[in-house]
Amino acid sequence: MLFLWLYMFYSCAGSCAGLAAPPLLPLLPGEPSEESSLEEQRAAPDAGSPISSFFNSSGTKRLPQAIIIGVKKGGTRALLEFLRVHPDVRAVGAEPHFFDRNYERGLAWYRELMPRTLEGQITMEKTPSYFVTKEAPARISSMCKGTKLIVVVRDPVTRAISDYTQTLSKKPDIPTFESLTFKNRTTGLIDTSWSAIQIGIYAKHLENWLLHFPIGQILFVSGERLISDPAGELGRVQDFLGLKRIITDKHFYFNKTGNLLLFCCTILSFPWEMSSGLGLRSQWG
Ligand SMILES: *[C@@H]1O[C@H](CO)[C@@H](O)[C@H](O)[C@H]1NC(C)=O
Ligand SMILES: *[C@@H]1O[C@H](CO)[C@@H](O)[C@H](O)[C@H]1NC(C)=O
Ligand SMILES: *[C@@H]1O[C@H](CO)[C@@H](O)[C@H](O)[C@H]1NC(C)=O
Repeated sequence: MLFLWLYMFYSCAGSCAGLAAPPLLPLLPGEPSEESSLEEQRAAPDAGSPISSFFNSSGTKRLPQAIIIGVKKGGTRALLEFLRVHPDVRAVGAEPHFFDRNYERGLAWYRELMPRTLEGQITMEKTPSYFVTKEAPARISSMCKGTKLIVVVRDPVTRAISDYTQTLSKKPDIPTFESLTFKNRTTGLIDTSWSAIQIGIYAKHLENWLLHFPIGQILFVSGERLISDPAGELGRVQDFLGLKRIITDKHFYFNKTGNLLLFCCTILSFPWEMSSGLGLRSQWG
């Protein structure tokens, strides 16, 4: 009933700005995250950046106006953490997985997960699996047609390798990358049903989104440029979100020590792992 009412309210209002939050509802899902536990520790729910945690209990919980919808291992965690440096961005730390695994819990449950925001601040979340979830575009559109979507993409081959090495670190006995990739080594036929390959067929997933959102409402962020030129890429994202360009060159510096490229901003520090043959991959997705 509450859900229906909220649903109608948001559908009719066509806006993601919200009412005062309803009474407390069941909290975070217990589902395992696709990310490492290290990442979860770094980004506990409601853990704000030092700047944004200044806005402690004042403000209102609102449904997100912008969502990082993908892709897994693209650099979504880095992007979200950098964005949280911005005083006008407030974001959920953990991945809510609302539009894929928890949709039946309803929008009121979803909004309860959100941090409080003041007028003019943007509420965000990231769940990389939304991009490959067939139902997600219609569901997000029915929450709010105007939701801004961000996709961090990367060379699909390095993405697949990064995906595979993450799985391998948890399950060391899985078959080799090559045997999972190729249906037939002689003909070079690729197994596109394997998730590591399947996620990287960006155009196929994008078709689903374009049935519900105009292309101008989707920003594609380059996972590679997020490493080589973070300030430039963050500039594009801030423009897209209608934010003042507050995150700039000053927030980043590079520190190359041996194989490890440290990629830092004034508040957070992201080590990126460089290993020849595998290219550059982030440890935090
Ligand atoms: C929230 O922040 C304000 C201003 O800094 C402070 O006065 C207030 O006590 C804080 N509330 C809580 C619950 O921490
Ligand atoms: C791989 O393709 C070759 C050439 O078409 C064929 O002869 C062979 O039987 C295939 N191998 C498998 C395992 O399907
Ligand atoms: C670069 O990283 C190394 C290793 O973490 C550290 O010891 C050094 O102080 C850093 N240099 C700068 C300029 O941050």
